[in-house]
Amino acid sequence: MNVSLPTVVSRSGRFAAGPSQDVAAFSESISFDWRLWRQDIRGSLAHAGMLARIDVLSADELTAISAGLTEIGAEIEAGTFSWNSALEDVHMNIESELTRRVPAGAKLHTARSRNDQVALDVRLWLRDEVASVLDDIGALQIALVGLGERYPAVIVPGYTHLQRAQPVYWAHHLLAYVEMLARDAGRFIDGRERFNVCPLGSGAIAGSTLPLDREFVARELGFVDAAGHPRLTQNSMDAVSDRDFIVEFCSAAALASVHLSRLAEDVILWVSSEFNFLRLSDAYTTGSSLMPQKKNPDVAELTRGKTGRVVGNLTALLVLLKGLPMTYNRDLQEDKERLFDSAATLRGCLRLMAGMLEQAEVRTEVCARAAADAQLLATDLADHLVVQGIPFREAHHLVGAVVAYAEGVGKSLDQLSVEDYQRVSPKFPSSSPTVFDLGQAMARRNLVGAPGTEQVQRQLSLWRARLSTVSGEMGLEI
Ligand code: ARG
Repeated sequence: MNVSLPTVVSRSGRFAAGPSQDVAAFSESISFDWRLWRQDIRGSLAHAGMLARIDVLSADELTAISAGLTEIGAEIEAGTFSWNSALEDVHMNIESELTRRVPAGAKLHTARSRNDQVALDVRLWLRDEVASVLDDIGALQIALVGLGERYPAVIVPGYTHLQRAQPVYWAHHLLAYVEMLARDAGRFIDGRERFNVCPLGSGAIAGSTLPLDREFVARELGFVDAAGHPRLTQNSMDAVSDRDFIVEFCSAAALASVHLSRLAEDVILWVSSEFNFLRLSDAYTTGSSLMPQKKNPDVAELTRGKTGRVVGNLTALLVLLKGLPMTYNRDLQEDKERLFDSAATLRGCLRLMAGMLEQAEVRTEVCARAAADAQLLATDLADHLVVQGIPFREAHHLVGAVVAYAEGVGKSLDQLSVEDYQRVSPKFPSSSPTVFDLGQAMARRNLVGAPGTEQVQRQLSLWRARLSTVSGEMGLEI
């Protein structure tokens, strides 16, 4: 972006002189709010159309203003527009350039303030951004489902307290993240439902004495309900000072980032020599400048690290808002860097994690060795005793005693003989338990939501079908 150094502009009206260079540099927002240019122009086109309807603009003036705005938009898009930081923000830059080119541009700000303009622009920007975030979430879900589908028979230990607990299909572990991401998508969609309301017409704080057609503007800009009725903010003071929608977006982004950070942490564990379940492609890892053997999972580590920033942005916003008196206060300009950063950071993490998983390979033989640990099926053995009529608490105790016995004789549970079992307790059946057949053990886990053979296959194909209807947004509605 091309922003010129601040120059002091003299302001008309109440002010004899403009702000000092230092103040201008301190207070400008163009260096970051230029991102709103598309939405600013879109909002101005709708506002101008409305002003023509109520005869504030003539048809010719509307034509000239619309052409001017479109031309400026094309130049911004092409990168030839030069922003002036002395003009503070994106709204003033575009309007003053328009007025320089089209005299009628001086009428465009009728009954409008930057206070309702910025509230509008950010809502429009967020609408586009939510759509993109949903696409990115959908792409990561597809990558997770794909990585599960490529290894449908792989079983790994599931962990609690980072201790081996019970066996799960590899795909089941990945699908846990698909579920989390679906809830994240739901939170963005839910927030959009609340912020897709038009604030324009609220003016600086108190609306306008002119007979604005707010409903026309809302319809023009797509602020409508399912039946096509315009949705308007109902209190001008709230409308110009409300930033709930930014907080909600950044909150959804923070939680989504936390989910990504957990996934990143799992990946970091999986690629460690200690686990060794996963191999990342060279493209998503880096070496060490000193240790020639190193292959580091930097993308996962950075995703985990960047989560701190996204969580911090949410905190910064809440603190920004907590002491503000009604209504607009310049403090609110500080909302945008947090918002843009959260959105860009989250989207970057979603994209990179998806790319990394698309190219990852599971070390199936290592997983098979880890999943063959018979202790993972100790609970199955207790269940087996329960079926024989032994109360679970007692069964738990008996199996615990067997585990201790096995440790003592240096054998695994499945290596113990019937005699060994009966030595621990005659309550163990006299035939050798079949619980240690992993294939059968997985087939037995057939409850909804369980990591059993049938259930996991069902979940994989359900998610595949949902996600192939394109975005995460579609997937959610099933
Ligand atoms: N740059 C400002 C912001 O981001 C726009 C609104 C300024 N309004 C004002 N009265 N100074 O909040």
